[in-house]
Amino acid sequence: MIKDSYNRRIDYLRISITDKCNLKCVYCTPSKGLRNFADAEIMTDGEIVRFVRIAHKHGLRKVRITGGEPLLRKNILDLISAIKQTGIHDLSLTTNGILLPELAGELKNAGLARVNISLDTMDAERYRAITKGGDIRRVLAAISEAERAGLSPVKINVVPIRGINDDEILSFAALTLEKDYHIRFIEFMPVSSGETWQKEKCVSAAEIMEIISPLGSLESYEFKGKGPSRNYRIKGAKGVIGIISPVSDHFCGFCNRLRLTSNGKIRPCLFSKVEIDIKTPMRNGASDDEIEELFLKAVKIKPERHLIKENMDSPDRINPMSKIGG
Ligand code: 5AD
Repeated sequence: MIKDSYNRRIDYLRISITDKCNLKCVYCTPSKGLRNFADAEIMTDGEIVRFVRIAHKHGLRKVRITGGEPLLRKNILDLISAIKQTGIHDLSLTTNGILLPELAGELKNAGLARVNISLDTMDAERYRAITKGGDIRRVLAAISEAERAGLSPVKINVVPIRGINDDEILSFAALTLEKDYHIRFIEFMPVSSGETWQKEKCVSAAEIMEIISPLGSLESYEFKGKGPSRNYRIKGAKGVIGIISPVSDHFCGFCNRLRLTSNGKIRPCLFSKVEIDIKTPMRNGASDDEIEELFLKAVKIKPERHLIKENMDSPDRINPMSKIGG
């Protein structure tokens, strides 16, 4: 088990396995100026698994696969099963769902425990507009196939944006009355190139709570002080509502994670540009001990808190979410 300089236990790694995406969501992917990494810049399966194995020695227990869109990666099933075999208990993946319907069963068999599916609206036309061309029927099929495959609980990520989908917050929350989904509202963060981002468009956690209050009293659910989501259950509901408030609240005191970018850099904080390159040393023949040193250094320099509020007016300085996968 490893702790950082602020006594936080670091046992969670989010791995971005590609920076490519098959959607272009307005709040996530900048419409211009984005260059994808060349294939040779992307970490190989072997390099990713090697890093996970080294981190696992220090108590890494939880891995989430992100992108871009992770299901675009070739041989995703082999990569999932190789990561699982390092001894990771809790292996999950965040996807837009477009490619999930046919893969759900195989992903489960390869060792994946759960998926988070991004869905910001229930309306087909609106979905097409937000994602710049996505077909919502694929995502709805993804949700049912994920349930059927036992990739559960299915978590649905919703980013409420004022004037775009904030009128659907109540109906998303109401879904939990009948379905055992975890609906997770994520405050709109200033991470893209600043085209869509405006402070005023961010719907705060407090507002979300207010909007869903007509559904009944909210009971705290499984809020163990771990992870960034505050979870609630409407009395009598089957599912759970989570609210993630990076903008209006500081949850950094509970942060337990590092990130690995698709081009092989450890990122101690999503909102900082500080990165430690592990791919170059690996390709130059670094030993496991040397890679371990870099992992330990990343843990050590993890900042006490993020600076979203301080950087809110210059979001260009933060990498677009489409590259790092949240
Ligand atoms: N603010 C909040 N969440 C975002 N995501 C992407 N961009 C943003 C943003 N600007 C979320 C997506 C997805 C997850 C990977 O990150 O909705 O579910």
